[in-house]
Amino acid sequence: MPSPLHFTSGIYRDMDTQILTVNANKPNSLVISKAANIIRDGELVAFPTETVYGLGANALDPVAVDRIFTVKERPHSDPIIVHVADLADLSIVSGHAPSLLKPLVQAFWPGPLTLVMPKGQIIPPNVTAGLDTVAVRMPSHAVALALIREAKVPIGAPSANLFGQASPTTAQHVWDDLAHRIPLILDAGPTLVGIESTVLDISVSPPVLLRPGGISLERIQSVVGQVKEASTRISEGSEGAKSPGLISKHYSPKAQLLLFSEGEEAQILSKMRDKALDLMAVGSRVGIMVADEDVIQLEEESIIFERLGSKFDLSQIAHRLFAAMRSLDRQEVNVILTRGFGSEGLGRAIQDRLSRAAGSNQPSGGNS
Ligand code: TXA
Ligand code: MG
Repeated sequence: MPSPLHFTSGIYRDMDTQILTVNANKPNSLVISKAANIIRDGELVAFPTETVYGLGANALDPVAVDRIFTVKERPHSDPIIVHVADLADLSIVSGHAPSLLKPLVQAFWPGPLTLVMPKGQIIPPNVTAGLDTVAVRMPSHAVALALIREAKVPIGAPSANLFGQASPTTAQHVWDDLAHRIPLILDAGPTLVGIESTVLDISVSPPVLLRPGGISLERIQSVVGQVKEASTRISEGSEGAKSPGLISKHYSPKAQLLLFSEGEEAQILSKMRDKALDLMAVGSRVGIMVADEDVIQLEEESIIFERLGSKFDLSQIAHRLFAAMRSLDRQEVNVILTRGFGSEGLGRAIQDRLSRAAGSNQPSGGNS
């Protein structure tokens, strides 16, 4: 019997996938034109944004959007971000403009901030999972902007990974998940930010932070004042989720991930070292994802390390985070031990992604 994956929504997926290299700052117009034609024809293109690679479809074409769900094996209850290249496009994709739109757009667009606002009539219901709001962002990556402009339609795009996997920060990651399911991947090298955009709901007052991301909560607060944080984590399939994508188990490596984030740094590192030794004693292959400065305190021959960069540079840690998870998976570790980097600035988004990757796997001893 054919696997259900290949026949979801009646679309057979076993196509040749082409990877075209494109300059990240000055995208080649022939390549962009080819990609834009594919989008206009109702097919999918994976493309770089400054956060992670996206899996793009014409956001005004419900059949094309449906392919996104099929290809990613993503539940239809999880709405998709619409990407625009020009402010004029906003009047098409959204209904009336909330008062906070202008100051936020002025401060952070183009860039890694997604704004949830009333939906325009033209947006098909499968983009928004039936919600009466739409999530919109203007990416700052030159390739993304050129593609949207050349396609002459807003582009609906989730991260270009299989549902539940770590988001892709290179074209190779996209290939690993989606080869033979999509016709084209645009390769502009590793993405800069490395974690996804911040999602802020401005359809309500005060605005609600639905997902911490590339723009920190503090920076948003400096523009809009009070921001509410989304209520505690929503479990998969729970009803009435405001942002159905906010499920607790997400962004996961294949290995089990244990997150150590409570207590003093020295204590955390010594707990990690003890745990690693215990696990190795029972034959586990252990990977550790930490800051450069941490490695010296954990040095142990048979541990596989992924250095995320200096703990004093959270943008570097974010940049490497998903790539490091994927790298440890490729090295076939059974368990990944990692630590948090606080909740200030990008630390909040890093903590969010790590605790989702850990799901309910918290090490014993009071770490959460
Ligand atoms: O950086 C990013 O945001 C990347 C790049 C490709 O733009 N995209 C991305 O998309 O991360 P995705 O689908 O992986 O995450 C979209 C998030 C989900 O948590 C989803 O639930 C939320 O945005 N979202 C989308 N539409 C929404 C809506 N109308 N109301 C509330 N949340 C929404
Ligand atoms: Mg995603």
